Amino acid sequence: MEPIIVSMREVTKRIGKRTIIDRLSLDLRPGEVFGFLGPNGSGKTTTIRMMVGLMSLSEGEITINGYNIEKEYEKAISYVGAIVENPEMYKYLTGYQNLLHYGRMMPGVTEQRIQEAIEVVGMGNRIHDKVRTYSLGMRQRLGLAQAILHRPKLLILDEPTNGLDPAGIRELRDYLRKLAKDENIAVFVSSHLLSEMELMCDRVAIIQNGKLIDERIIGEQRESASASRMLYEVDQADKAMDILVTNGQPAEAAGNGHIALDADRERAAELNALLVAAGIKVYGIRRDSKSLEDQFLEVTGGESIG
Ligand SMILES: Nc1ncnc2c1ncn2[C@@H]1O[C@H](COP(=O)(O)OP(=O)(O)O)[C@@H](O)[C@H]1O
Ligand SMILES: [Mg+2]
Repeated sequence: MEPIIVSMREVTKRIGKRTIIDRLSLDLRPGEVFGFLGPNGSGKTTTIRMMVGLMSLSEGEITINGYNIEKEYEKAISYVGAIVENPEMYKYLTGYQNLLHYGRMMPGVTEQRIQEAIEVVGMGNRIHDKVRTYSLGMRQRLGLAQAILHRPKLLILDEPTNGLDPAGIRELRDYLRKLAKDENIAVFVSSHLLSEMELMCDRVAIIQNGKLIDERIIGEQRESASASRMLYEVDQADKAMDILVTNGQPAEAAGNGHIALDADRERAAELNALLVAAGIKVYGIRRDSKSLEDQFLEVTGGESIG
């Protein structure tokens, strides 16, 4: 297992009498794109502000690469690159000149590193055009290049897809993934849009009213990494359920000769063997692949997400 880059333990934020964030615990590891999904007002920006030391915690603890963000701020923040609001850019300078300018203010940023950052975010020759000629997507890439100049271990982006068109979102997704893999960075992205999180992230935590209500592995990793809902089509559903339950596997009727249960791939195959050995005909097994959207609506009780 990779070391943990960010650890949040029982983080609580109260403002006045209101509890804005309620005992939030999370871990992030290098190389993963982590989605922080929640409706507007659920507490995403507040959490991020605490992660980057812009706001104090009422209770709990956040450590970054082992350093406490409040007690060891300088050390902790040195591992963080973040775009919380619009990054400051000089519009009359080229992208490259902007990066040079910021690079000079940070220790250890060489021109070679600037070149690498430009390549990671895929700016190509446009880096030598003036920033005022850039599209929003281009400016965002420049902001990202700037945020990773000092080789952070954690990159935090608050609602980065806001204002981007679908093509821009696709590009963002591609270079965030590349960034996570090539630089082994943990990327923390917040959004209120499910569909985007589903495309962008390896793992998603859902926050509502300041509480973490669910956490899921999504995308390609989900298939093998965790148990998921499996549907078995059988000839005798009642008997099959009896056999499963007797063997310690909870299962329920799913209609039309189907039974549903939670299992990972290996377990699914074992249960199939068990059923067949007991004389049940198994006509088919498939994963009940609910979209994250369905899951999100399920856990938030169908509340609007706008
Ligand atoms: N400084 C503050 N004082 C009082 N309430 C705040 C403050 N900042 C945020 N809130 C409240 O905390 C809740 C969460 O806000 P926020 O973290 O901005 O949510 P999100 O980023 O998920 O939209 C909201 O109800 C908001 O009104
Ligand atoms: Mg916000």
